Amino acid sequence: MPHTNISTIKITTDSIRLMKKTGNKIAMLTAYDFSFAKLIDSAGIDIILVGDSASNVMAGNETTLPITLDQMIYHAQSVVKAVKYALVVVDLPFGSYQTNTELAMTSAIRVMKETGAHAIKLEGGESMISTIKRLVEAGIPVMGHLGLTPQSIYQFGTYKTRASDEHEALQIKKDVLLLQHAGCFAIVLEKIPSQLAKELVESTQVPLIGIGAGPYCDGQVLVMHDMLGMQSDFSPRFLRRYADLQSIIVTAVEQYTKDVKNASFPNESESY
Ligand code: KIV
Repeated sequence: MPHTNISTIKITTDSIRLMKKTGNKIAMLTAYDFSFAKLIDSAGIDIILVGDSASNVMAGNETTLPITLDQMIYHAQSVVKAVKYALVVVDLPFGSYQTNTELAMTSAIRVMKETGAHAIKLEGGESMISTIKRLVEAGIPVMGHLGLTPQSIYQFGTYKTRASDEHEALQIKKDVLLLQHAGCFAIVLEKIPSQLAKELVESTQVPLIGIGAGPYCDGQVLVMHDMLGMQSDFSPRFLRRYADLQSIIVTAVEQYTKDVKNASFPNESESY
């Protein structure tokens, strides 16, 4: 059941654009399965991203590179079934769109047809423009992703902040405008200086959603497992933990294990 104080209006790409125009911040989180998607949708989140971070938090890989299109489609199908209000965006995984526009179209059409999601996200700037234009022309809403794009981690060599130097900052400014003109309905800015994000927010119409990009962005996104404190070994400066599910879950499982072993579970009232 949605909370009574939370709007139950279906979010669309138009609502997201309107939020920037009216100065309403956009709240976005990742989800990869039915149960969590249902919870965060009922809590009033605007956008649910079926992120390729599923490769890390669901599959235990070190990077986002190994996850496949079939695996992303499986996660997205589970999320879409649970969601009533949020806009569901699905990451195109590494290798499913970079080769050429035709491959990107084929992958994005599979995502839209087989999952029922509302939009796709892909990483990259200038080199992705013709692909983004073609996807948008075909009726597929596209969210861009600039800055620290995790699918290029081996090219960057490190997870440090991007665009701290003038050359890269200029490239991001150019890329944001190109993505806006190509028709992206929103762009994720990952790990860039907050003053640069502020300049970008003030000079564009496209909603800019930050992760590690400071407070001036039009919205914020976090990986759900990180903000819920499901793991303690990932602690970047930009992460705020809103819960400590790791200790809640471990304590509950310890208690259950104890109860089973000392035969106090189940009791009479829990039996038939
Ligand atoms: O895959 C993901 O979770 C993302 C967010 C970090 C923006 O792309």
